[in-house]
Amino acid sequence: MHLTGTVASALLLAASTLVGAETCAKCDLEAHGFASLNGGTTGGKGGRIVTAKKLDQLIEFAAAKEPLIIRIDGMIKAKPFGFEVPVASHKTIIGVGAKSGIVEGGLNINRQQNIIIRNLNIHGTYDGKTNWAGKLGDYDAIQIDNSTNIWIDGNHLYEMGDGLIDLRRDTDFVTVSKNRLENHNKALGIGWTPNVIAKVTMNDNFFHSTNVRNPSADNLKYGHLYNNYYRNLTGYGNYARGQSQLLIETSYFEDVFDPIVAGPGGRIKTNWVKFKRCEGEIHLDVQGETVFQASSFYNYTLANPYDIPVDIPYNAGPKEAIGV
Ligand SMILES: *[C@@H]1O[C@H](CO)[C@@H](O)[C@H](O)[C@H]1NC(C)=O
Ligand SMILES: *[C@@H]1O[C@H](CO)[C@@H](O)[C@H](O)[C@H]1NC(C)=O
Ligand SMILES: *[C@@H]1O[C@H](CO)[C@@H](O)[C@H](O)[C@H]1NC(C)=O
Repeated sequence: MHLTGTVASALLLAASTLVGAETCAKCDLEAHGFASLNGGTTGGKGGRIVTAKKLDQLIEFAAAKEPLIIRIDGMIKAKPFGFEVPVASHKTIIGVGAKSGIVEGGLNINRQQNIIIRNLNIHGTYDGKTNWAGKLGDYDAIQIDNSTNIWIDGNHLYEMGDGLIDLRRDTDFVTVSKNRLENHNKALGIGWTPNVIAKVTMNDNFFHSTNVRNPSADNLKYGHLYNNYYRNLTGYGNYARGQSQLLIETSYFEDVFDPIVAGPGGRIKTNWVKFKRCEGEIHLDVQGETVFQASSFYNYTLANPYDIPVDIPYNAGPKEAIGV
């Protein structure tokens, strides 16, 4: 049999369409920070690459037993309103380009491990008229209970009905980087546990026009916050509650009320932090000499804080070149 070039390439195209996505740019990156410890966070690396364009596909892929790199192509609408798709261990969930994600719902991780959530837009459970405070429903963008090795990177999370990111009940070895958290009441909550074991790295994020929990860290064993930009926060910025230890480095706070706060048992050490038009509490050193050193766990690079207001809004959030 002799195939012409055109027929052969048509057959190739058909075959590749059948197996789903063939390529996925930057989909096998691995986490840095605390998520790089405890065996590391690789998500679905080494598994098949699949693409979800509809909710039922996403639900099925996310629940699979095998490792998968799951591309979300386009905006998937959750149903019922506020539904959080359960994600099982060893998955990378990644948006295709800058305009993919989930609307009117989110993701839920409960007692799982090794999960990466990148390059997604998640929004739309916010009801500004009746529920600005987000107290009527538990409609988070990303809710995680009792799980380990999680990397949340490069997402744009905004206008949801409850928390944008909730790290609850001893969820440990987490890195939250390059996200844009915006136009929202409760941004990032950590805690809901009497145990002091969780370790979280939070770097290069842009918190913009949020109210509280930027983050609220309750009983966080080690919180390492660096290269973050906080702008127009009306409630409070970084809050060490319970027995939390926060190491806060190279951050820029602009128009923030109560930028850095320690509760009665909280400890804080700061390093090269800038403030512009801020008011209220600024606890730069609360038993700072007893706070952990991040460099004994991993290597990292601090930005010049004067670059943060320019670089972070540009770098945070989903990008066209990822997931394609
Ligand atoms: C986490 O899950 C384990 C069982 O896997 C349970 O024993 C523990 O109480 C849970 N922790 C919290 C704070 O709920
Ligand atoms: C600041 O954030 C609040 C919401 O928390 C918003 O209503 C207000 O418009 C924002 N202001 C600016 C200047 O962006
Ligand atoms: C940081 O990097 C240096 C040089 O590569 C290495 O010797 C050191 O072990 C690293 N530290 C950690 C905590 O990984």
